[in-house]
Amino acid sequence: MPDNSLVLSNCSQVLTMTGDGLGMVENATVRVEDGRVVEVAPAANAGTVPRSAQPGDSPSRSQEIDCRNCVVMPGLVDPHTHLVFGGWRAEEFEMRLAGRTYKEIAQAGGGILSTVKATRAASEDELFASALARLQEMTAWGTTTVEVKSGYGLDTETELKLLRVARRLDEEELATVVPTLLGAHSVPEGSDTSDYVRLLTDEMIPAVAAAGLAKFCDVFCENFVFNAAESTRVLEAGRKHGLVPTIHADEIEPSGGAEVAARVGAASASHLLQPSDAGLRAMAASGVVAVLLPGTCFFLREAHRSPVARMRELGITMAVATDFNPGSCTLLAQPLAAQFACVYYGLTVVEALRGITVNAARALRLEAGTIEPGRWADLVVTDVPDYRHLVYRLGHNPVRFTIRRGRFTCR
Ligand code: NIG
Ligand code: FE
Repeated sequence: MPDNSLVLSNCSQVLTMTGDGLGMVENATVRVEDGRVVEVAPAANAGTVPRSAQPGDSPSRSQEIDCRNCVVMPGLVDPHTHLVFGGWRAEEFEMRLAGRTYKEIAQAGGGILSTVKATRAASEDELFASALARLQEMTAWGTTTVEVKSGYGLDTETELKLLRVARRLDEEELATVVPTLLGAHSVPEGSDTSDYVRLLTDEMIPAVAAAGLAKFCDVFCENFVFNAAESTRVLEAGRKHGLVPTIHADEIEPSGGAEVAARVGAASASHLLQPSDAGLRAMAASGVVAVLLPGTCFFLREAHRSPVARMRELGITMAVATDFNPGSCTLLAQPLAAQFACVYYGLTVVEALRGITVNAARALRLEAGTIEPGRWADLVVTDVPDYRHLVYRLGHNPVRFTIRRGRFTCR
């Protein structure tokens, strides 16, 4: 066996996610060399197993893992998170259980603005340490690629600080971190919306783009935050500076977010609890990926559900994300987001599994989320024998090993 190689043998099912479905190969062997997949092949009679893998193993110690009774799938891609922030908001959770709504709390100066205070007060090192611990928890649930938004600074200096933390997280090589500027997450206390939009377009977006700290530019499009016209201005400015548009759309209220996504050529639109039908048709026509966030719908006890049957009918690509953040969803586990997407929204098992892999990668405009020769070996070895168990076993963490670019990042 050549150096720097890893062999996953006897896999009961390998979900390659190539083609339209799971791209399943049964009783298969996956070979990895120098961090990349070289082959997925139906197993010949498997040899003996030299040793079992340990955390921190790297492919420099050639090894074979016996994956009998294990499903092997692509490393999970989480295309929408707010991983970096100071403090938590457990008191708001309690208030919401007592009947206050997310919007009421936000309008009373709580919500995002309370996290902004805690985040501004935290040092870059503190923010890094807390985010890193959360990223480690994500890798334990199989995540190998994660989008990370800023958005709790709401001034140029603090937004840059958050994006530097995202870059440091990427440098840890636990997961591929895809950074997004979400300066338009809320209007900072004491500011006027139009002044703040001007700050975003004329100062913050150019500064972030010049520093090369973000791939995407996002906006919280809601009538009570940034309306459709303001959102369009922000996303157009981002695009002018080379940032790919993405949007929080039609979550709390219908606000024309899906239409904005299509108009600006967004890679994706998230939430979409109450999109208009015209908006969905426009998204379908411009190839905008829908990022479903069923964990948020659950956590906020929202009355609406994303219209997945209509999205399916229109041929909209559906991805699934955790939306991890301290206010509206504290979920770090992508497998659980997939379960919610099935039980709560009505995705099929296959749709949900594609939603947390190949379709999530598409939302991020990345070549990832599949197991294919030549691609990075981002893989999850699970302890379940059949793909349906990945969404059927409530609360079970199916992850035995998480492997990123051929190296173990978990277990
Ligand atoms: O996606 N909607 C805006 N952003 C987050 C909530 C952030 C927060 O409440 O801190 C979301 O749900
Ligand atoms: Fe979000």
